[in-house]
Amino acid sequence: MGQIVDYNLTEEIEHGVYVSCLVKELSRELGLPEDIVYQFSLAGLLHDLGKLQLANYLYGNESIVSPLVIEEMKYVRMHPMLSYRILKDRGYSDIVLDAVRYHHEDYDGTGYPSNLVGEGIPLGARIIRVCDVFAALTTDRPYRKRFDVDEAMSLMIDEIKHFDMRIFLAFERIVHNDVKRYQIQFPDSDAELISEHLMNMTAQD
Ligand SMILES: [Fe+2]
Repeated sequence: MGQIVDYNLTEEIEHGVYVSCLVKELSRELGLPEDIVYQFSLAGLLHDLGKLQLANYLYGNESIVSPLVIEEMKYVRMHPMLSYRILKDRGYSDIVLDAVRYHHEDYDGTGYPSNLVGEGIPLGARIIRVCDVFAALTTDRPYRKRFDVDEAMSLMIDEIKHFDMRIFLAFERIVHNDVKRYQIQFPDSDAELISEHLMNMTAQD
């Protein structure tokens, strides 16, 4: 596999499950009704699906692959929109679709793809943003060990302008519960099975 996207299928699926569990807890802490909790959790599970298609796209066509960092940024930044496009005609609600599409928007307007600001970012996307960053920081990466909960929270406070403060404060209240129970690890063989289903979805588009 190439080096353009740091992509590992098993890790991606585990990340989706981890984020989804955190989104569920956080949405409940925010007092949201259960049908919304369900829809946001579903969006948390599927938010990075576009990375699967992006990996096919990059690795399937050598002419697209470029070592330039700017290219890397350009293609990686496509993934929320790719996730949205994969899901949009498959019966998901606008609540799920909006949360997926805008999950990399930052509260201060510096995110992507649309530079939405503050309350203009759909609520589900603001919730996923907090959970997604936390999940990434508290997971081992090939180039670094995971941060513990306190270190991760302190790194996020340094970037607090990216987050909805009300949501971040609610997240602080739940995060000291045992988040490790959400860090499910699949055998690679199971990840392959799940990916077959996801691949079929992306191949039809
Ligand atoms: Fe993402």
